[in-house]
Order: sequence, then C-alpha cells, then structure tokens
Amino acid sequence: MGLFDRAVVRLLPAVPRPVVQRLSSPYIAGSTLDDARRTVAALNAEGKLATVDVLGEEVTRRDEAETIAEAYREALAVIEGDGLEANISVKLTGLGLKLDLDLCRALLAGLIDDAGRRAMFVRIDMEDSTCTDDTLALYRDLRAGGHENVGVVLQACLKRTMRDIAELAPLRPNVRLCKGIYIEPESIAFQDDETVRRSFRSCLDGLLDNGSYVGVATHDEELIRHSLRRLTGLTPLDYEFQMLLGVRERRASELVAAGHRLRVYVPFGQRWYEYSLRRLQENPKVAGYVARDVAARLVPGR
Ligand code: FDA
Repeated sequence: MGLFDRAVVRLLPAVPRPVVQRLSSPYIAGSTLDDARRTVAALNAEGKLATVDVLGEEVTRRDEAETIAEAYREALAVIEGDGLEANISVKLTGLGLKLDLDLCRALLAGLIDDAGRRAMFVRIDMEDSTCTDDTLALYRDLRAGGHENVGVVLQACLKRTMRDIAELAPLRPNVRLCKGIYIEPESIAFQDDETVRRSFRSCLDGLLDNGSYVGVATHDEELIRHSLRRLTGLTPLDYEFQMLLGVRERRASELVAAGHRLRVYVPFGQRWYEYSLRRLQENPKVAGYVARDVAARLVPGR
C-alpha cells in the first residue's frame, strides 16, 4: 500500500457512515438473517461452504450479549432447517468477553451445545491481543468439558502464535489460520508483510505437523500457492480454504473447481460499522473508492 493509501486508511473513521456503508456493501450479506440465508444458499449453489457471522462486538450490556447469542441460535436453526452447508463464527466480545467472563462462557457453551445437537460446528473468531489469552483459555475449558465441535483462530502476525500452536497441539485443534487484522504493537507482532508471510508458512507447517485440521484463511496469492504445495498429499477433507465475502470470488471459484473445500465468511446484521472499516482498510483500492465517492458528493450529478 502506498503512502496516499495509508493516509486514506487512517482517515477512514472520518468518512461519513453512509459512505462507509455503501463502499463496504460487497462484504456484508445484508442486515437480516434472510439476507444471510440467501447469500449462503447462493454460495452453496457454487459449491462453496459458508460460515455465518452475526455482526456485533464489544457489547456493554448483558442483554446485548444475550441478543447476539439469540441471533446465532436463530441462524443455527435456519442453517439446519434449509439444509445449508454452513457453520457459525462467533466474536467473544459480542458475547460479553470484556463484560463478564462467566456470562461469555455460558453463552458460548450454550451455542456450542445447540450447534452440536444439529451436528454443526462453531468457530471462535480471534480479536485483538487483549482477547487472546481469554479466548484460548475458554477454548481449552470447552474442550476439557468434552465439546468437540468448536475451533479457534490463530493469527500469524503475533509473535506468540508458534508457542500457542505447540501448547494446543495435544488437543489437535481445528484452527483457522489468518494473518491477523488488528493493529498490534511491535513488541508482540510482526510488522512487515514478508515477516508475517514467513510466520504464516511456519504456522501452517506447525499445525499440519500436529495433525490439526486447518482453515487456510487468506486471499494472498503467494500464500495460497504455498499452501496448495504444502497440502499436496492430504485429502480435501483434511483442510479447507477460507475467504471473506466479496473478496477474490473468482479465485475462490477456481479453488472449488480444483476440488478444494472453500468456505466463505458471511457477516450479516445491523452492527456493520466496525467490520466494514476493517474490510475497507484492507482493500488495496480503498483510496480510489473513497476519493471517487467524495468527489461524487462534492460535484452532484457528475
Ligand atoms: P492481504 O491483505 O495481503 O490480501 C491479499 C490480496 O487480497 C490483496 O492484495 C487484495 O487483492 C485482496 N484483498 C484482501 N482484502 C481485500 C478487501 N477487503 N477488498 C478487496 N480485496 C482484498 N483476522 C483476525 O484477526 N481474526 C479473525 O478471526 C479473522 N477471521 C478471518 C476469516 C476469514 C475467512 C478470512 C479470509 C480472514 C479473516 N481474518 C481474521 C482477516 C485476516 O487476518 C486478514 O486481515 C485478511 O484476510 C487479509 O489478509 P490476506 O491474508 O488476505 O492478505
């Protein structure tokens, strides 16, 4: 990303919300469960799996966390009822991680039980580094309590991740491996692209060597190609690729056509703002989009 683009990324929070909403619409299924249902059905028709995310993070009240959990229960019922090929992805701050750890544990365990009764799986998304210890500790608790239909996310940008992989190895965890989107200090996170890529490759090795099921979550062509080479010899049921809704859809279709499992992350809901900002930050064309949009508003009818 060039200097101009970086400057625009820093300015994104100042961009009016309706503009953010319009620019980020390809990344979000819509505001209702019905929107998510239609999006997942369309993806399934293309041979793609899905994981459904109810948008919402950092709740400040118990009832907000309970509302998000209820929305996930409704999503599980619809996924099962419609026979969709999908699971769910959950952000723990949305279930009250920062509010009350016991509430968060109870809501999460409830969702995993509900999903388990429907033979479905729950992925715990990974948020910023203030959440990592608690998230991994909750995951361990759940596994120790006999919950098998749950997986975590590990972020290659964090320096601790190889250690986490070693410590989780006895559990043979189901892990989504991604670069990590949150801006973290140099003391705990690799900063430059090439070092993060190198770490991603090492993490993938570590996870596969431990016999973990890996969701390779990247749109980075170099890492996709590396992963394809590294996964040679495994069966398509031993791993999956994962991408975000609205990003590199053609590449996703190519992976499906080549016989790989490919899961698309499908967010929906009213609380779209934080997620949208993160997606726009990553879009290499964001500066152009924002500039065009602003120009169009300054010169109406252009
Ligand atoms: P990179 O950002 O270098 O992108 C590679 C290329 O993909 C770009 O050059 C561009 O062509 C295209 N691209 C990427 N993003 C785009 C966008 N928004 N719009 C248009 N084009 C785009 N992170 C986290 O911290 N916790 C989590 O739980 C998750 N969960 C998660 C699930 C799934 C399914 C995916 C794919 C990713 C995540 N992430 C995540 C996000 C992840 O950490 C990372 O920030 C993004 O995937 C971007 O990194 P890439 O590896 O794709 O490379």
